[in-house]
Amino acid sequence: MIDHATIDRIMNAAEITEVVGDFVSLKKRGVNMLGLCPFHNEKTPSFTVSPSKGIFKCFGCGKGGNVVNFLMEHEHITYPEALKTLAKKYHIEVEETEETAEEIQQKNERESMMVVTAYGQKYFTRTLLESEEGQAVGLSYFKERGFRREVLDKFQLGYSLDKRNAFTEEAQKNGYKINYLVKTGLTIEKNDRHFDRFAGRVIFPIHSLSGRVIGFGGRTLRTDTKMAKYLNSPESDIYHKSRSLYGIYYARNAMAKADKCYLVEGYTDVLSMHQSGIENVVASSGTSLTEDQVRLIRRFTRNVTIIYDGDEAGVKASLRGIDIILEQGMHVRVVPLPDGEDPDSFAHARSSSELLEFIDQNEQDFISFKAKLLSSGVGDDPVRKANLISEVVRSVAAIPDRLERSLYLAECSKIFKVEENILFEEVAKIKRRQYEQRRRRGEYLPPEPKKVAPKQYSPGKEILFNAEEKEIIRIMLMHGDRVITEVQPTPKDDPIKVTVIDFILQEFESDPMDFHVSVYKKVFGIIREKWNQPGFHFQNTFINHEDPEISSLAVDIFSPGYELSKIHEKGGAYIRTESSMLKEVVPESIISFRSRQVKRLVAEIDEEIERLQKAGDIDGIMELLKQKKNLDELRKQISQDLNRIIL
Ligand code: CTP
Ligand code: MN
Repeated sequence: MIDHATIDRIMNAAEITEVVGDFVSLKKRGVNMLGLCPFHNEKTPSFTVSPSKGIFKCFGCGKGGNVVNFLMEHEHITYPEALKTLAKKYHIEVEETEETAEEIQQKNERESMMVVTAYGQKYFTRTLLESEEGQAVGLSYFKERGFRREVLDKFQLGYSLDKRNAFTEEAQKNGYKINYLVKTGLTIEKNDRHFDRFAGRVIFPIHSLSGRVIGFGGRTLRTDTKMAKYLNSPESDIYHKSRSLYGIYYARNAMAKADKCYLVEGYTDVLSMHQSGIENVVASSGTSLTEDQVRLIRRFTRNVTIIYDGDEAGVKASLRGIDIILEQGMHVRVVPLPDGEDPDSFAHARSSSELLEFIDQNEQDFISFKAKLLSSGVGDDPVRKANLISEVVRSVAAIPDRLERSLYLAECSKIFKVEENILFEEVAKIKRRQYEQRRRRGEYLPPEPKKVAPKQYSPGKEILFNAEEKEIIRIMLMHGDRVITEVQPTPKDDPIKVTVIDFILQEFESDPMDFHVSVYKKVFGIIREKWNQPGFHFQNTFINHEDPEISSLAVDIFSPGYELSKIHEKGGAYIRTESSMLKEVVPESIISFRSRQVKRLVAEIDEEIERLQKAGDIDGIMELLKQKKNLDELRKQISQDLNRIIL
């Protein structure tokens, strides 16, 4: 936990243009800075940073926020991580609540292991590039396979000499403890003797999400032996195979930007795709895809395209992968490759543009992929057709979202020419079965979902009240302290200035109205309570508010360009700005707020009347009709007000 005072200090010190400027090149444009958005692909800049407000906003993709949000989004880190990054940049000391001795010990242990793996990587790379054996064996192997120097450098590839313990010895000589060499798996300990695990292999360092080396893959160059082609670091405190993806560090930004991830099988597939200019690619490294790996991808994008080897094993792995990805609520497509090819061989035989074009044209959604794959030879055999259908439906059943599921079922129904109802039944059956299985395994499960009658669609309160409520909040935040009128109680008194906030608060008091959308209600409450306090600053208070709902609302409102969005009469030479029209805008917004409230009450009464009609409660209906008449009067009154907005 970082305490409030420290957070404040960090926020005050952080200069948004400086922080964003580390990642995006910005040019001055009026009072703002402009650049190419790092969150989506664009050719003309629509990414705006406002130094005075401390916010960024992209008018292309809509992303916006304060300096912390920027780091969180760009670096894919958590709120406290972003704060710590800023603290470091601005030399602010962060004191956190204390860790236990055990926690410190564990952290030191992991840290020591990573120091060793970092050393290992450097050693192997140096060996590859500088030693005679490295160049003759390792480097020429990579060259032969068509990997260019940039890719070798980028992925920090290496080579381990074909000697029993050359690396271990060198590491120890440099002060690295054998304990950690063994713990990271770089060194194998056997009968008190030590061996290099990766001797005679080319080395693929495996990076964590933040770019630190946590493990290695080593490929043998020998074809004569029965040795495993690849050897990987063993599981350790820093390397968990089932939670890592090869290439994730180099793919993360490209993945978020393209909103898509290519999933391949092996190390060389990742390298070749990068060499062809495709960077949003990660490898599951031969093991079958795990839930944790899929969740890791999901932090960056919900769209996965599987490009596995075109052999039977690859197809089987794709089929398993599909369901795991769907279960996480993600979208999955597949690019089938011809038998005998993998993305590596395929990319090498083609130019980048040919590769991209192939992927583009052969990518298919999982239903078509499964249908085509399974339908070969099915013909008109009804039993086999039924099996095929239930196979596809099984995947659909894995999709957590109901609406999405039903869209896919509609597609299945078209492809297989089977009634949708039957498919729905099938899904229900599968889900029931799965539920039973999980329950038998002893998992805690909420009670089985009961069939309920379809709910009538009715727009939720949030939608219904959104516009009018937001408008009031927006005006208060943007123009709150501006004076819109003066009142002079008696000719002897000095005139009293009435600000926008004074005016609105007074209106809300004299005629009790309430907000329905919780975030607007919260903001209104804060304004009412605090705006008179010394040092209250609209932008800072709300933009940097801890409640993400509040801060994102504020960012949205304070984003450059918002003000003119509503009123811009280009009457000849000048534009009338909203602030010059506050006298009209403010009362107008209050009136529409009121009129919306009345409409809501009328709707509620209508509903109630309908209910009473069914129950035959004549007296009740009479009473309600009376209330409704009053409201109608009120509505007329309000609309008259609307016609003569004069202060
Ligand atoms: N793999 C492994 N151990 C093996 C074989 C494979 O860990 N004995 C993993 C590796 O991560 C490998 C991936 O599975 O990259 C895919 O295997 P494969 O297609 O056989 O290897 P390629 O990556 O195609 O390697 P190469 O092109 O060098 O043969
Ligand atoms: Mn392969």
